[in-house]
Amino acid sequence: MGHIQSEGKSSRRLVRAAAILLLAGLVTQGCGGSGAEPEAAEAESAISLPTENITAASFGCISDLTAVDRFFVGNLNGDIDATIAVAGSEEGGVYPVGSVVQLVPTEVMVKRESGFDAVTKDWEYFDLDISAAETKILTRGAAEVKNRFGNSCQDCHVKAAPQFDLICKSDHGCDPIPINDVMIRALQKTDPRCEAQELTTEEAEGLQQLQAALTA
Ligand code: HEC
Repeated sequence: MGHIQSEGKSSRRLVRAAAILLLAGLVTQGCGGSGAEPEAAEAESAISLPTENITAASFGCISDLTAVDRFFVGNLNGDIDATIAVAGSEEGGVYPVGSVVQLVPTEVMVKRESGFDAVTKDWEYFDLDISAAETKILTRGAAEVKNRFGNSCQDCHVKAAPQFDLICKSDHGCDPIPINDVMIRALQKTDPRCEAQELTTEEAEGLQQLQAALTA
């Protein structure tokens, strides 16, 4: 896990990454929850997951998903047990179709039907714009998807060791992201679509550090 060392060392990359995450939560922090519908389930047939069935309404408050490690999972096909089994496995495995994976509120990976895209192992990447009122999909797709600061999701995630199905966690071989666990938790807790949650002093400071990095 990458840690922000000091402002002096902060690179442009750090600032960009921090900006992404700030937009994930901090910018909209304080809006509180509006009780926006968090329901992610759109039970379809067990194997197919056509594009038209995945819309902004498929995504909601991050913490309404199931926590595994420090990220969250769901399954749009209702196959949540199978998703949790892979997500929690030390050995890795292939995520079942419909799996939804999120570390921060604005970035999502969804496991699509077989044949969706061989390069991304059938993952579809999403970059979301979120507010208390709604979720908007800014970008979605396969290896061409970049976050709004021009960093390719695939370029980072492809570095995960093969048995982990492009899931990075902190130790699967991806380059670390420059935010620490406290900051991640703070971003998760400030998803504006969720009920307002209290931040610890440490978490509030983590958000401030991110903001400092963004404006450095
Ligand atoms: C700079 C490299 C980088 C970029 C760019 C990047 N990610 Fe990640 N992502 C990571 C790393 C590393 C983790 C694991 C962080 C941790 O848990 O410590 C991660 C975690 C995740 C997770 C949680 C599951 C996992 O792999 O651990 C999801 C979902 C995710 N990213 C989606 C995306 C999406 C969608 C995009 C593009 C919009 C994106 N990421 C862009 C490096 C990146």
